[in-house]
Amino acid sequence: MNHRNVCQMFGIEVPVFGFSHCRNVVAEITKAGGMGCLGTAYYTPEQLEIELNWIDEQVAGKPYAVNMLLPRKFETVGEPLEFEKLPESHVAWQRKLLDDAGIPPLPESERERLVREELDQMHLTPEFAEELLEVICRHPNVKLVVSALGSPPRPILDRLHAQGIKVGAMTGKVQHALKHKEAGLDILIAQGTEAAGHTGVVSSMVLWPEVVDAVAPIPVLAAGGIGRGRQMAAAFALGAQGIWCGSVWHGTRESDLTDEMKQLLYQARSEDAVQTRSKTGKPGRMLRSKYTEAWVQPGAPATLPMPWQSVLNAEARLRIDRARALDYMTCPVGQIVGTINNESSVRQVIQDILEEFVTTVEQMPAATGLADA
Ligand SMILES: Cc1cc2nc3c(=O)[nH]c(=O)nc-3n(C[C@H](O)[C@H](O)[C@H](O)COP(=O)(O)O)c2cc1C
Repeated sequence: MNHRNVCQMFGIEVPVFGFSHCRNVVAEITKAGGMGCLGTAYYTPEQLEIELNWIDEQVAGKPYAVNMLLPRKFETVGEPLEFEKLPESHVAWQRKLLDDAGIPPLPESERERLVREELDQMHLTPEFAEELLEVICRHPNVKLVVSALGSPPRPILDRLHAQGIKVGAMTGKVQHALKHKEAGLDILIAQGTEAAGHTGVVSSMVLWPEVVDAVAPIPVLAAGGIGRGRQMAAAFALGAQGIWCGSVWHGTRESDLTDEMKQLLYQARSEDAVQTRSKTGKPGRMLRSKYTEAWVQPGAPATLPMPWQSVLNAEARLRIDRARALDYMTCPVGQIVGTINNESSVRQVIQDILEEFVTTVEQMPAATGLADA
């Protein structure tokens, strides 16, 4: 069967894919006829089992996806993560930043345990990935695994294929897309710089058609800057087979963001979604905060390489969250944050996107003046 149409490929009703770390969002997208994708970056195998069991119960046999950090080479990231290995100058600079802002330090008696708990969520070894894969393969409703860090190693690809699971990857560059094609992946997600999280520098408008043309006939989902139907129409006009959204779910009642964070996002403008290395060491788009801004002020140290910046950031995040220091709070979000202004629901978001998409497509010939030609 020719699977060029992603709805046929996965047995879904609408070509709307949605990324979230929150199981409620994932299940709702799938229940609404699209395909939810659970981000597993911070799950242990035991937690993942619980989450996938829960999603299975909700979706009544409908398909969903899982996003994994599956690096091609593990040795670069397999080193044990210890806070004590961080450069003292970075730790001191960050502590002073938060002290000066009146954000209390972590209680000395709990500091080590709290930071350890954060770091334990960041394991990235072949054994750990293997355990996560075992959990995934026990859940037959998982029909797609998306790699966030390049093409997965061949044995993993073969194993997932043998299980009937399609494999995709995120891409922000046409050169990476060509590597994914060569690696034998089934679907690509071309993510423009507008997007939340780790992003490249090429805008969606330029990236989507470049990737579509480069990897044809592999289907491409468009990501980065899609929160409404007109943007979906643009994605299809540029050759995408479906859309992949992340930021838009932040404004839904199913999202597990705190009310405080949701309010910050509702007030934010598009330009408040800034690219910063302050969370992971790699450029990622996040909500501007005093913390992200401090890292680009004169005198700030250079951010550490991945994964050490995440280790450093763990202590800051704990302090900021415990103090409920709103000015310093941030989360990954894309430029569409400027149009997320009040609470909706996952189902409503999808319905609104599809309605505006259909109207836009219908009106296009008249709008271009070509209808009468
Ligand atoms: C809170 C959040 C966390 C994200 N974390 C990841 C991740 O771990 N892996 C990944 O491949 N993409 C991640 N993304 C990016 C999404 O998969 C998606 O490509 C992106 O949000 C699409 O652009 P948009 O934000 O403009 O909708 C994240 C997005 C958000 C909003």
